[in-house]
Amino acid sequence: MQLLILLVCTLPIIWALNNGLARTPPMGWLSWQRFRCNTNCEEDPDNCISEKLYMRMAELLVKEGYQKVGYEYVNIDDCWAAKERGPDGRLIADPDRFPSGIKALANYVHGLGLKLGIYADFGTETCGGYPGSKFYLEMDAQTFAEWGVDMLKLDGCYTDVEDMQYGYPAMGFYLNKTNRPILYSCSWPAYVVGSGKVPNYTQIASTCNIWRNYDDIDDSWDSVKNIISFYGDDTGNFSSAAGPGNFNDPDMLIIGDYGLSYDQQRVQMAMWAIMGAPLLMSNDLGHIRAESKELLQNFYLLRINQDPYGIQGKRILKVGNIEVWKKPMGLQGKGAAYAVLNFNSGGSPVKVDLPFTTLGLIEKEGYNVTEGFTGKFVGVFYAKDVQTVYVNPSGVYLGIAYFDP
Ligand SMILES: *[C@@H]1O[C@H](CO)[C@@H](O)[C@H](O)[C@H]1NC(C)=O
Ligand SMILES: *[C@@H]1O[C@H](CO)[C@@H](O)[C@H](O)[C@H]1NC(C)=O
Ligand SMILES: *[C@@H]1O[C@H](CO)[C@@H](O)[C@H](O)[C@H]1NC(C)=O
Ligand SMILES: *[C@@H]1O[C@H](CO)[C@@H](O)[C@H](O)[C@H]1NC(C)=O
Repeated sequence: MQLLILLVCTLPIIWALNNGLARTPPMGWLSWQRFRCNTNCEEDPDNCISEKLYMRMAELLVKEGYQKVGYEYVNIDDCWAAKERGPDGRLIADPDRFPSGIKALANYVHGLGLKLGIYADFGTETCGGYPGSKFYLEMDAQTFAEWGVDMLKLDGCYTDVEDMQYGYPAMGFYLNKTNRPILYSCSWPAYVVGSGKVPNYTQIASTCNIWRNYDDIDDSWDSVKNIISFYGDDTGNFSSAAGPGNFNDPDMLIIGDYGLSYDQQRVQMAMWAIMGAPLLMSNDLGHIRAESKELLQNFYLLRINQDPYGIQGKRILKVGNIEVWKKPMGLQGKGAAYAVLNFNSGGSPVKVDLPFTTLGLIEKEGYNVTEGFTGKFVGVFYAKDVQTVYVNPSGVYLGIAYFDP
């Protein structure tokens, strides 16, 4: 007992942010990748950044069954604000595109049982040139809370990267002071990485619920591959900063957009599940193929992503263009989801032999293995066993090893 007390007193205790939010990776929809900074509502009323867009997406989240499987945030990104702050210094929404205002939009979204996210920037301007929050952090936190906002993405354009280690915690402090639970999404480490440094992820996790640490995703396979590669390298050991309340954010899901083949969409969904990533779709929920919608709502994939232990999966093997990833999950972290990725673009599926010892799956009781997308039973596997799988070009095999004896 005495020893224990001694240990508790002498170890530096670093608290990860625990505001009760993001106990599992947050799920929802975010406008940026698909709709960008389109403010031309006169010529393009259905796709411009306006209250109508967010209302329509909120309705579709409900109507198309996304809400039922866990997608709950409807998130505004850049270009929502008027170009100038109001006379009292407060941010205001663009009056033409958001005539009812953000508070009314929040009420509407809440009425559907969903939550509203908003976007701001720690610098003097947002990336799109709208008013930044530097010198207004406290006021903006209060404004967002008064409006009924549930999540804030704080970007980092137009500021010195060195200032971020003070600014992001300051905003976190002011958000906390509002007393409204607001999920805090920080772009901070992405800018640190961009400046060629390795972020202090312990510090970031003590401030932020989720954080971006790499380039913006765009609608391409190259972009998805680069992100997976960055997460595989895990420079700075950022995977270990993840857990209930705190998650690395590899950026939005582009499933249902233009850039990925069906197999590549399976890769993104499988890998975002394995990485325990926030699942923020950026697509047009009104125009989406059935196969993409099915992936986004896949029960087994969502269960991997939402595993309550919140352990981020890691790359455990890379041989040429084949990679093996594993996310411990379930009972005492002894079960696992695992993915075999084939980054070859040559025509036929590649055969991969997967020794269970390589996966670190060595419990003597063995594992009930199912195929990850369908839940179909594959067999009982023991440490000595080797599973043979075939992986499509630019594709993935996903397995789940249940340990529940
Ligand atoms: C504020 O911070 C405290 C201490 O970390 C936490 O318990 C509380 O839930 C936070 N409140 C909000 C509204 O974020
Ligand atoms: C990272 O931040 C934590 C918490 O602020 C601090 O205790 C630790 O010394 C920092 N680590 C490095 C390598 O700077
Ligand atoms: C990463 O962090 C985990 C948990 O803190 C630790 O056990 C592990 O040794 C670290 N790995 C490296 C390579 O620093
Ligand atoms: C595998 O499934 C069977 C049937 O449900 C169960 O009895 C057994 O305990 C499971 N084994 C493991 C290791 O989870």
